[in-house]
Amino acid sequence: MENRTNSAQWIIPFLFLACSIQFVCGKQSTRQISMEYNPGCPKEICSTSTGNTSINLIHVMAKNPYNNGHDIHYVWSTIGSPAVLIAYTVKSTEIKIDWAKFISDNPANSITFDPEPFYTSGMQLTHLIEFVDVNDTARLNSSAEIHMYPFHDMLWDSTSWVNSEKSDGRVNFTTEYGTNTNGSILLSFDAGKSKERISRLPFLMITSNSSAVDLALHNLSTISNHSRFGLEMMFVNSYTQKPSKFKSYRSIDDEYCPAVFTMIDVNLYGEDASNGSYCQFRPVCYVNPHRALSGQKEVQYYEFVQASILPHGILTAFYGEQDINIYGMNITFGQKKDGFYVATQFTSWTSTFGFGIPPVEKLSLAIIMIISVGLGAPVVLLIFGGIGVFIKARRKQYSRLESVKQDIIT
Ligand SMILES: *[C@@H]1O[C@H](CO)[C@@H](O)[C@H](O)[C@H]1NC(C)=O
Ligand SMILES: *[C@@H]1O[C@H](CO)[C@@H](O)[C@H](O)[C@H]1NC(C)=O
Ligand SMILES: *[C@@H]1O[C@H](CO)[C@@H](O)[C@H](O)[C@H]1NC(C)=O
Ligand SMILES: *[C@@H]1O[C@H](CO)[C@@H](O)[C@H](O)[C@H]1NC(C)=O
Ligand SMILES: *[C@@H]1O[C@H](CO)[C@@H](O)[C@H](O)[C@H]1NC(C)=O
Ligand SMILES: *[C@@H]1O[C@H](CO)[C@@H](O)[C@H](O)[C@H]1NC(C)=O
Ligand SMILES: *[C@@H]1O[C@H](CO)[C@@H](O)[C@H](O)[C@H]1NC(C)=O
Ligand SMILES: *[C@@H]1O[C@H](CO)[C@@H](O)[C@H](O)[C@H]1NC(C)=O
Ligand SMILES: *[C@@H]1O[C@H](CO)[C@@H](O)[C@H](O)[C@H]1NC(C)=O
Ligand SMILES: *[C@@H]1O[C@H](CO)[C@@H](O)[C@H](O)[C@H]1NC(C)=O
Repeated sequence: MENRTNSAQWIIPFLFLACSIQFVCGKQSTRQISMEYNPGCPKEICSTSTGNTSINLIHVMAKNPYNNGHDIHYVWSTIGSPAVLIAYTVKSTEIKIDWAKFISDNPANSITFDPEPFYTSGMQLTHLIEFVDVNDTARLNSSAEIHMYPFHDMLWDSTSWVNSEKSDGRVNFTTEYGTNTNGSILLSFDAGKSKERISRLPFLMITSNSSAVDLALHNLSTISNHSRFGLEMMFVNSYTQKPSKFKSYRSIDDEYCPAVFTMIDVNLYGEDASNGSYCQFRPVCYVNPHRALSGQKEVQYYEFVQASILPHGILTAFYGEQDINIYGMNITFGQKKDGFYVATQFTSWTSTFGFGIPPVEKLSLAIIMIISVGLGAPVVLLIFGGIGVFIKARRKQYSRLESVKQDIIT
């Protein structure tokens, strides 16, 4: 009994040590982030007084001191279909936007970088999907009625964006969904400063090379009480020699996202695995604005397919007629017997989109310590206990021998 309490006392400083090591080591590679809103846009196109608040483009430059003179540029915009473009460039590369061409019917090559980036890729949200799930299967393919609402038909306002020393660089875009409805769609992008976890469920890992994409569907009106929503997205890659791949795999660690063991990676390969890009997400969504485990529902995902056409947006403005690979994927929100979208009138989902190799979930040091202490303590007890018993037995034997000796002598 005494041994037990002793080992319990050991665990606490041990864990404390583990947590502090993790805290110190987990906070490395901070990057500098700078943001500009509609860079270089002439007054007659972008002035808010002319009333078109739909022209929203944010250019983010992420300087990583550990990145051997390379920078990562993100362009976030809701012009056309909402999208994010990543460019991996040499230091002091500049973005150039021909605004008149950009908002025209033929925006090809109106966004350029000088000098040309080494590698670029993009993620675009193309359609909001609504489907009537009469038999409550939560799957798209067993739906009687599917509606695809193109995102490029929606008018977006940039409600807010932050660019301060302390902040991570985040921008929120919202749109009124359709007409005569009360709903709204909120889309947020944020670029993290350092390698850490996003501070909301499902606590995805954001590295100094990636950014987060959040979608929230508030109070959308539905065509049926059995409606569910989904998202069609497209991925584009400047390196066309290697096909892009989609992978869903089990990650044993659910420390940050309890009960969810699946991770999804979309790999857009570059010349080398380390200079490609990726989109990573957990197949879960949240049905309450305050993200909580109790409101965590499944996300269904579907085939990753090669596509040929990309709706207008910053990606078509950048790539123009360039030879690119386009892939598409659908996901839908919700699971069987969850009461459909109308149950809470809310759904939110998060993914990360970044340059390089997708981060791999590893068991954290604290968990490894807990496991080793948990497994180790009984082993230590067994060994010491065994030695103790052995010594005791030897002693007994010895004393018995002694007494026998004594007996013989006397
Ligand atoms: C505002 O700009 C968007 C995107 O270019 C365009 O679709 C829309 O028609 C414009 N609205 C007005 C009032 O000019
Ligand atoms: C990608 O990585 C490979 C191998 O490390 C290297 O040869 C190539 O130059 C890199 N390409 C770019 C565009 O950085
Ligand atoms: C829908 O897809 C799932 C899995 O891909 C399959 O098991 C099911 O049979 C399909 N249902 C219909 C109606 O096609
Ligand atoms: C729903 O289930 C019923 C009964 O099983 C079936 O007849 C019907 O075809 C299903 N509807 C769809 C869209 O799969
Ligand atoms: C964006 O929206 C989220 C959620 O509504 C909010 O917490 C955040 O403060 C907003 N960000 C900005 C820059 O307004
Ligand atoms: C919008 O909200 C009002 C008041 O809450 C409600 O009466 C109306 O039915 C809603 N409209 C739609 C299309 O949901
Ligand atoms: C970010 O990209 C650079 C350049 O390839 C690489 O050296 C670095 O390890 C990456 N950082 C992370 C956290 O992935
Ligand atoms: C959604 O509707 C609820 C109830 O009417 C309201 O409290 C909430 O503010 C609405 N959310 C948004 C984002 O409009
Ligand atoms: C949806 O549910 C509401 C509340 O239960 C009900 O009033 C309404 O008639 C239903 N609508 C349809 C189309 O079934
Ligand atoms: C998404 O689903 C819709 C409806 O089933 C389909 O028309 C579309 O081709 C799908 N998109 C992709 C990329 O699979």
